[in-house]
Amino acid sequence: MENKKIVVANLKMNQTYEEIKDYIEKIKTIHTKRVVFCPSALYIPYFLGYDYGVGIQQISEQVSGAYTGQISSSQAASMGLVLTLVGHSECRTYLHDTNTVIQNKIRQALDHKLNVILCVGETKEQRDMLKTDQVLTRQLLSVLQGLSQEQLNHIYIAYEPVWAIGTNKIPTNRDIEDTIKFIKHIVESKLSFTDIPVLYGGSINAKNIGKLNQVKGCSGFLVGGSSLKLQELFKIIEVAVKE
Ligand code: PGA
Repeated sequence: MENKKIVVANLKMNQTYEEIKDYIEKIKTIHTKRVVFCPSALYIPYFLGYDYGVGIQQISEQVSGAYTGQISSSQAASMGLVLTLVGHSECRTYLHDTNTVIQNKIRQALDHKLNVILCVGETKEQRDMLKTDQVLTRQLLSVLQGLSQEQLNHIYIAYEPVWAIGTNKIPTNRDIEDTIKFIKHIVESKLSFTDIPVLYGGSINAKNIGKLNQVKGCSGFLVGGSSLKLQELFKIIEVAVKE
């Protein structure tokens, strides 16, 4: 896994139509599915048709029907998307995605053959109170329990400490390594699933990617802010995704 890392670009609620035209012109030089773009859902059709992968930032917990403003897993899958993010801290905070909602979303995604990147991570207060392990255990087990081994094959975990998202603060490599080990241990000991891939996310940039890339056991990176700056993103890809 380690030399087969993926880079997922979470573009969040950024870019205008004019900006994405120029952006896509530049990213179409990327010829690997190990780089996945998650643009604003509005622009997904423009991102399709090239050699990189395309995912969606979030999906509904519902199957279909009268849910104004939502996008279902079957709709996302029918567009050829490869994955969905689930449980991003911004969705937990602003959209009130509880662990129950997150569990429903994961089931929807898996039912429609979408891979899932499940984002987990502790807040600064939780970290200061030494509750990181407890928080991560709950975030993992409350949503993954009951999934089959075949379903777990389609899950990636993204360890994103909330305090590191968009703040230019990152944990030490040692801390990330220990947390990745802990996540793998929980999934293995409680769900009997070995070596679940774990990505790191939070304030990754062109300067720190060299160091972050040394983290043992890390299967890739979830990149927010730096994915809007293509020079930064290309550097991150160059370091992390070697064919
Ligand atoms: P950031 O965001 O890279 O801007 O910290 C990461 C994320 O939210 O996935």
